[in-house]
Amino acid sequence: MKHVLSLHHMPAEDIAAVLETAEKVKKNPERYEDRLKGRTLLMLFQKTSTRTRLSFELGIQQLGGRAVVMDWDKSNFAISPIRYEARYVSRHADVIMARLIRHSDLRQLAESADVPVINGCDERYHPTQALADLLTIRERAGGSKDVTVAYIGMHNNVANCLTAGVTKMGYNMILITPEANEAARDEELLAAAKATGRLEITTDPRAVRQADFVYTDTWVDMENFNNPAYAEEKERRLRVMMPYQVNAELLGGSRPYIMHDMPVHPGLEIAEELIESERSIIYDQAENRLHAEKALMLHLLGAA
Ligand code: CP
Repeated sequence: MKHVLSLHHMPAEDIAAVLETAEKVKKNPERYEDRLKGRTLLMLFQKTSTRTRLSFELGIQQLGGRAVVMDWDKSNFAISPIRYEARYVSRHADVIMARLIRHSDLRQLAESADVPVINGCDERYHPTQALADLLTIRERAGGSKDVTVAYIGMHNNVANCLTAGVTKMGYNMILITPEANEAARDEELLAAAKATGRLEITTDPRAVRQADFVYTDTWVDMENFNNPAYAEEKERRLRVMMPYQVNAELLGGSRPYIMHDMPVHPGLEIAEELIESERSIIYDQAENRLHAEKALMLHLLGAA
């Protein structure tokens, strides 16, 4: 495992190993306090973040290392070919986490960097979110594989890595995605997930009633949410997607765990009362970003 750009490209045994380490790190954080002593994480951001920023920065600190945060647009990555800047930062950073818009830019960064690159969420994949989600599902499911996860909403970067991760870990997945973000279309990933025999695809929102875990996410990507040029498309999406809102009526008396990767938009993809409901494990997912990312950095830097 050199880079982690998506869970589609991460072998199942590597995902399982990271999750096992994450459970240990979460249970006994003090045992890992010095494992990355003297190591540096460079965090590159082209987009906004709350969880990714906080969890990676705290994560490397809790392992004895340090983080340097760089805003892409205030750095010279913005004005020079990525390969030269990537080669330079590899002289000082031991690992890079990048939240970029374009997946092609992330690939260039990974191809040129001499150190591991972690995708902190691009238009196509969000692997560290999916690792935290799988850790959260494991905590609730115990050792059982008789588990069904339904993702309902716009097919996006989160749906891609969740689908890859859930099917690779032996759970069942239902995708209820009437529309997809163009950049997130990945037929190869879907074909691999279907080949496991554990993926069902439907446009019927009532399919959530068969699931143990119901997961939703924003219908509009973060870079477009407040973009005036995107207002018309945002309005269209909110109209088309409203029958796919996760709410009590849609659940029809079923009591799945409720999942969302945050930030939430109450009244849009999820009804407000479900966010804080007793079946919500949304904050567990968010907390587990820290433990999963610590485990991932330990594996990438050979210190697990
Ligand atoms: N879920 C997630 O990636 O959160 P942030 O966008 O706040 O980092």
